Amino acid sequence: MAIKISFINFKGGVAKTTTAVNFSACLANTKIDGENPTVLLVDLDPQSNASLWLLGKTRFPIRNEHQQEKTVFRMFMDMFPREPKNFRFKDAVVQSVVKDRHGHDLVPTLDLLPNTYDAIDLEERMMTHQGVLDYLAKQLEDKEDSYDYMVFDCAPNLYYTTINALLFSNFYIIPVYPDFFSRAGVRVLCKAIHERYKEYTKFATEKPELLGLILTRIKENATLDQGRAVDLESELKTLIAQKYVSPDAILFRDDNGDPIYFNDSTQIGRSIESEAPTMFYSAGGSTIQTYKARMQTFTNKVLEEIERRS
Ligand SMILES: Nc1ncnc2c1ncn2[C@@H]1O[C@H](COP(=O)(O)OP(=O)(O)OP(=O)(O)O)[C@@H](O)[C@H]1O
Ligand SMILES: [Mg+2]
Repeated sequence: MAIKISFINFKGGVAKTTTAVNFSACLANTKIDGENPTVLLVDLDPQSNASLWLLGKTRFPIRNEHQQEKTVFRMFMDMFPREPKNFRFKDAVVQSVVKDRHGHDLVPTLDLLPNTYDAIDLEERMMTHQGVLDYLAKQLEDKEDSYDYMVFDCAPNLYYTTINALLFSNFYIIPVYPDFFSRAGVRVLCKAIHERYKEYTKFATEKPELLGLILTRIKENATLDQGRAVDLESELKTLIAQKYVSPDAILFRDDNGDPIYFNDSTQIGRSIESEAPTMFYSAGGSTIQTYKARMQTFTNKVLEEIERRS
């Protein structure tokens, strides 16, 4: 059975997509008991950034009707009466999505279920339709045996598509920038997730647990102000005491006990334009090497945390 993880924050631009894409690639590339796990990355954001990134301009389904049948947008549209019901997972999923320049698979066990911009109208349609909160679960439950992990890249909101992801997820991870607003945001977000779960439990396949917070977008070459991490941890402690999040929720730290964080850098920005995860970007020198090493540490810690809770 797949372990399902949502990357979520209703604050925009905190590197949800960048972290979800690189984590998925890193996870699929990490041997567990001698084998590479199979990972399905699902792009649930109408901005479709993960899809645009991994498919590049040539493979990205824009205004081609045939291609649109093969997207998360179409998968959700099929819930409405009078829609053609022509979504087929096996046609839509892009297997081994990451290729090198010669078309060879770079991460054979990473698949993508892409989205497209038309999904922007979905939420409005879902608002007026009953029974929409377990739609993602119903569409993907028979794929759970085909994947070890499913990773959901969520839009910066808590609307229906995001709730679908949460109610189908074992865990959620919050990428966060450690400033004053974000700290308040984490509090509001965790309470809101808790409330949504309580309200919609009957649609839930899983009880989504906060796995942890991961620090992102620290200024280029800057080191982390440790106090900021401690502030976030004290926020977490309050949320745990109030039972809004799991008592096991953490701020991700490395084996030395130092917070794991990702720096902003122009090199990483460039890697995103390269149509491959930063994990497979060969230029960029030491900044990229540091990013890769920290992403591997983060991935290992996620695996450890999942193991600890099972
Ligand atoms: N480490 C980084 N260095 C440089 N640029 C970055 C880094 N991480 C993310 N970015 C850039 O910051 C912007 C926001 O990142 P990303 O799209 O991953 O955030 P997001 O939280 O998914 O945003 P949204 O809320 O819009 O979905 C993007 O333009 C991305 O290219
Ligand atoms: Mg995003």
